[in-house]
Amino acid sequence: MNLFTRKYDWCNQMRNKEDRSFIILKLGGSLMTDKSKPFSLRKKVLRRVISEIIQTKKNVIIIHGGGSFAHPIAKKYNINSGRDRKIQNQIFGLTKTHNVMTELNKYVVDEFMKREIPALSIQSSTIFLMDLTKGLKINSEIIKLNLELGIIPILYGDVIFHSDGNFSIISGDTIILKLCECLQSYNISKVIFLMETNGLYINDEKSEIKLALNIKYGDIESIPLANLGGKIDITGGIKIKLQNIKEILKLGIPVQLVNGLKENFVKEALFDKKIESTCFFPPHEKDS
Ligand code: IPE
Repeated sequence: MNLFTRKYDWCNQMRNKEDRSFIILKLGGSLMTDKSKPFSLRKKVLRRVISEIIQTKKNVIIIHGGGSFAHPIAKKYNINSGRDRKIQNQIFGLTKTHNVMTELNKYVVDEFMKREIPALSIQSSTIFLMDLTKGLKINSEIIKLNLELGIIPILYGDVIFHSDGNFSIISGDTIILKLCECLQSYNISKVIFLMETNGLYINDEKSEIKLALNIKYGDIESIPLANLGGKIDITGGIKIKLQNIKEILKLGIPVQLVNGLKENFVKEALFDKKIESTCFFPPHEKDS
C-alpha cells in the first residue's frame, strides 16, 4: 500500500460519521523516556508504538506524559505547589517546564508527520483552566473540530493556570478524565495507558506477586498492590492513578494498562485482542 492510499484510508475512516468511536491512548512518560536519566527519549520505542497505532487505522486521541523531560524541572521549581516567591526564577521554571513538554511533544507529532498522518499538537495549558469556583474547565471545541476533520489531537501533561493567578501541573491522566467527560457524544470506547510493565501487580493469597488481569470497579479500593520497588509506585502515584481510573470507569468506559515495550501489544490492545495486561471494567448499571 503506498503512502497516498494509506493516508486516504486513514482520513476516510476518520471522516466516517457513522463511526464516532474513539480510543484514548496515553503514552506514559516512563515508557517514552528513561525516568532515571534527564531528557532520555526512547526513540525506537516511540517510533514502533506510533507505527503500530497507525497500522490499526483506529480513531485515536493521544495524550502523553512528561517523563524525564518535565518532571525534574517541575520538581526543581516546585511548579505543582504554585507560586512561591522564595524559589528563585520560579516563573522562568514554569515556562521552562512547558517548553520541555513542547520539545517532547514534537517528537511524538513528528512520528505521525513523517508518515503523512494528520496529527496536531494541542497545548493543554491553553485549553485548560483551573477555575477556583467551578473546577477544571476545558475548551473542548477545538478538539471536537479536529476530530471532525480527521485530525489526531495530541495533548500532553503541562502547566495549568488558575483563575486566581496561581498555577500548577495538569497530568496526562487528569486530561484524559476530562476528555472522557466532555467527549461523550463521540463514544470513547476505551482508554489505554501504555506503560513499561504488563500492568498492575498484586500480592495473591500466598503473598506471591502476580499480574492482576481483570479488575472490577467495585474491587479497586481493596486491590492488594504489590511493592515492586521502583517498578510500581504504591505511594501517591499509583493511588492517584487508580482514583482517576475509577472516575473513568464511572462514565462506562473500560480502561486497560498495556506494556508498550512489548512488540504488537499496542496493536493488539487497539484491536481488543487478548494480551497479558490489566483490564478494568466499568460498574454494571445496577452497581452504580
Ligand atoms: C506530567 O504529566 C507533566 C509535567 C510534569 C509537566 P504526567 O504526570 O502525565 O507524566 P508521566 O506520564 O507521569 O511522566
